[in-house]
Amino acid sequence: MTQSIRIERSAIKKTQPKASELGFGKYYTDHMFIMDYDDAKGWHDARIVPYQPITLDPAAKVFHYGQTVFEGLKAYRTADDIIRLFRPDRNFARLNRSNERLSIPELDEELALEALKQLILVDREWVPSEEDTSLYIRPFIIATEAALGVAPSLQYKFMIIMSPVGSYYAEGIHPVKIAVESEYVRAVKGGVGNAKTAGNYAAGLKAQEKASAQGSSQVLWLDGVHRKYIEEVGSMNVFFNLNGTIVTPALNGSILDGITRDSIIQVIKHWNIPLEERQLSIDELVEAHANGTLIEAFGTGTAAVITPIGELLWEGKPLVINNGQTGELSAKLYDTLTGIQRGSVADPFGWVLELDYRQASAAKN
Ligand code: COI
Repeated sequence: MTQSIRIERSAIKKTQPKASELGFGKYYTDHMFIMDYDDAKGWHDARIVPYQPITLDPAAKVFHYGQTVFEGLKAYRTADDIIRLFRPDRNFARLNRSNERLSIPELDEELALEALKQLILVDREWVPSEEDTSLYIRPFIIATEAALGVAPSLQYKFMIIMSPVGSYYAEGIHPVKIAVESEYVRAVKGGVGNAKTAGNYAAGLKAQEKASAQGSSQVLWLDGVHRKYIEEVGSMNVFFNLNGTIVTPALNGSILDGITRDSIIQVIKHWNIPLEERQLSIDELVEAHANGTLIEAFGTGTAAVITPIGELLWEGKPLVINNGQTGELSAKLYDTLTGIQRGSVADPFGWVLELDYRQASAAKN
């Protein structure tokens, strides 16, 4: 890391919303991070500036060819006023894997993490402390070169914006209904399904609208080749308790390598509960539901945390799971994961990075 980060403070402080009004991704903090790339200078001009709109040429490649990647992570405030980040190094490593797939120049992960830490320091008053709230962090890169030829952009912007949030789903941490999609597909191996890029989400909107019209919160995707094997929910990876064995789809090139997914796998193994990462067909799930061995289902994600799944809608028929209630394992995993993130549960995995701003504030005053 060789660059320094310039800071321009905002003259005005926005009024912060109440915890009960937060929802997901509706409010933004006072500052943002931005850094530019061009072929001659590489990544340069790292700066923290007041949160503001940016100006782009209408021919910027991101608008036409979707050359863009993003990440999602959270900062938490503990009872003793320490701010904590959960495995942030994994997010910047994955951002670079997405960059590689989308032909975007590699980022200095150490600089990106330093930028994030400094941005949180500047906007530390925005990290909420109430239960089930956090500061959601959205790093992203867009292709900004004004050129309509289909080729990798020669210019980019890397930005980090931050938003205080509550639960992602309107249901809060209560079980959601998910529709299994058999017409549209999200991704296929060799495509960009395992990159965190905008097109994957745009491609899912049609099916999501269909699911909403049927009373479901989101879509469970099946594989794009056989329309048979479970993939993911788009905003979360999925896990099923099949008669005591926890099964989650194996990473196959079209599923997102979720950081919460990986953490939950490690926690389950740490508890010596049998876990399989493998192909899992919708037929196997329907059969398990019929014979009473589909005990529990839940999704995992940064935004979604651990979201219990109370019902799968498959071919117009509802498969109710665990009487539509939060399962025992989902609840225990939720408490453990959020406890590790917030510091009320020990972190035997070394996942948490603490930012002690009481010292930073004392040094500044
Ligand atoms: C996240 O969990 O951070 C995600 O990226 C899901 C999102 C699209 C809300």
